[in-house]
Amino acid sequence: MQKSILILGACGQIGTELTLELRKKFGNENVIASDIREGSESLMESGPFEILDATSYDAVEDTVMHYEVEEVYLMAAMLSATAEKFPERAWNLNMNSLFNVLNLAKEKKIDKIFWPSSIAVFGKNTPKENTPQHTLMEPSTVYGISKQTGERWCAYYHAKYGVDVRSVRFPGLISWKTQPGGGTTDYAVDIYIKALEEGKYTCFLKEDTTLPMMYMEDAIRASIELMESDGDKLSIRSSYNLGAMSFTPGEIARSIQAVVPGFKIDYEPDFRQAIADSWPGSIDDSQARKDWGWKPEFNLERTTEEMIRELRALKGR
Ligand code: SER
Repeated sequence: MQKSILILGACGQIGTELTLELRKKFGNENVIASDIREGSESLMESGPFEILDATSYDAVEDTVMHYEVEEVYLMAAMLSATAEKFPERAWNLNMNSLFNVLNLAKEKKIDKIFWPSSIAVFGKNTPKENTPQHTLMEPSTVYGISKQTGERWCAYYHAKYGVDVRSVRFPGLISWKTQPGGGTTDYAVDIYIKALEEGKYTCFLKEDTTLPMMYMEDAIRASIELMESDGDKLSIRSSYNLGAMSFTPGEIARSIQAVVPGFKIDYEPDFRQAIADSWPGSIDDSQARKDWGWKPEFNLERTTEEMIRELRALKGR
């Protein structure tokens, strides 16, 4: 099927892999990558690439019109830990970019939007285990507030203007191609890199902090499957709960020790501990399973195997 797809924030942790996968599926020329900065060679050379500020309506509209874009994946965002340091910048980036694409869809200049939300929409009064789709949400971070507000706007634009916007609440994402930046769950990527480079890792969260996580391949598949699913079957137009696995720093360290003998971990919790403590430990994603057939494929063991194998290959070890 031919269609023109624009990715905003294509050089980030999710955007990089999402762009390459969409290009594989829909053709290199049909998938336009954009970001405010340059990205990897494979991303910039495998198809169209534009330097683009997602917070500028005019710039996004120009690109949409030029390439006759039908679908937008909005991946530009400031994550939880960085957003605590730059609250206003985070709010402006996370909200203005969303309004830009919602308004383009309202004006019928694009047909469909994917916008990721996060487990950060939940707060310390949310039930921690098997967190339900519909529950008490009192986020305590700027990032969480921006995602929760964004969810309400998505639901509003869908109900009021018929905008076809689709969203999932991503847990922490683990990947080896592009590193994350500024998130609370980033430790679950850093730990693999340090295990291979130095044989040891100092974790900024406590040993027993359970968080929901997902391997990137599952996350990319979830995004594309949701976008390709029948819109009439989607009962949630705010954002779907999405689960895959849950583990603590202690547990991921043990799974690494099984393949990297001698790996050592110690713990020096910092300000990110309070953020992690306000988030759920596990997620009830039954609505996503029911509505569009979501099913994760990677557990912790499989994730560790893949991460170690790919990172070793990357570094020529
Ligand atoms: N991975 C994100 C973060 O830690 C959560 O969505 O900020």
